[in-house]
Amino acid sequence: MQYAGGRADAEETLRQLPGEGHALIQADLGEPGAAEQVVADAIAALGTVDVLVNNAAAAPTAENRHPIAQTPLADWQRIWRRMVDVNLLGAADLCWAVANHLVGRGVGGAIVNVGSRGAFRGEPDFPAYGSTKAALHSLGQSLAVALAPHGIAVTSVAPGFVATERQAAKLSGPEGERLRAESPFGRVGTPEEIAATVHFLASPAAVWASGTVVDLNGASYLRT
Ligand SMILES: NC(=O)c1ccc[n+]([C@@H]2O[C@H](COP(=O)([O-])OP(=O)(O)OC[C@H]3O[C@@H](n4cnc5c(N)ncnc54)[C@H](OP(=O)(O)O)[C@@H]3O)[C@@H](O)[C@H]2O)c1
Repeated sequence: MQYAGGRADAEETLRQLPGEGHALIQADLGEPGAAEQVVADAIAALGTVDVLVNNAAAAPTAENRHPIAQTPLADWQRIWRRMVDVNLLGAADLCWAVANHLVGRGVGGAIVNVGSRGAFRGEPDFPAYGSTKAALHSLGQSLAVALAPHGIAVTSVAPGFVATERQAAKLSGPEGERLRAESPFGRVGTPEEIAATVHFLASPAAVWASGTVVDLNGASYLRT
């Protein structure tokens, strides 16, 4: 399991995982070379790696909001570069390292990318975020075709609003009602609902879903 700055949270998650064979690896995926090092460290700690879940992201916060008409160019460029570095280039390098590890061993495996509904619906306040998630979906589809002959399945999930810790203030604030009303279920998604689908997509049972982008948004946005 890789983390960036949240060591205490990562240790707590580690404590909650059942069984053995887990390792914590620190890295800033926006730094060149970090992704290859994460995979090398994971292989050193675990022996082999069979599954990659690209969940890490520079996700929307009050600090990195960047609507085009209200954001000075220097901030616009800084936020775009950071989101591309972490969300797209970091994930692409992780895919490269894990795919080549699997191909080199001659075994199949799975890559699951955590994208976003925002890739399809648009992210007016966070266009760099939406763009990197659209690119991540596209990367997954290209790699699904390229890696199928090696028995490696590549899929993506596109969650709508999910009640993670990062989103807690929004859900309890004035925006909360509107966010829950986006879905006809009258609520937002849970981290467990996203994890259950990622877990399935990472399993051998889901190999025939390779290339898919699974909408996990409670029917709040229907793609055609
Ligand atoms: N929550 C939602 O509503 C929602 C909706 C659609 C998609 N998603 C996607 O779901 C995923 C998880 O979202 P979340 O809500 O749990 O967001 P979050 O709380 O901000 O978690 C992001 C994770 O990415 C890691 N990370 C951030 N910057 C990094 C960097 N430079 N290098 C390495 N790791 C880095 C963080 O590690 P540290 O904690 O160690 O810093 C954290 O574990 C993201 O890909 C997000 O885009 C979320």
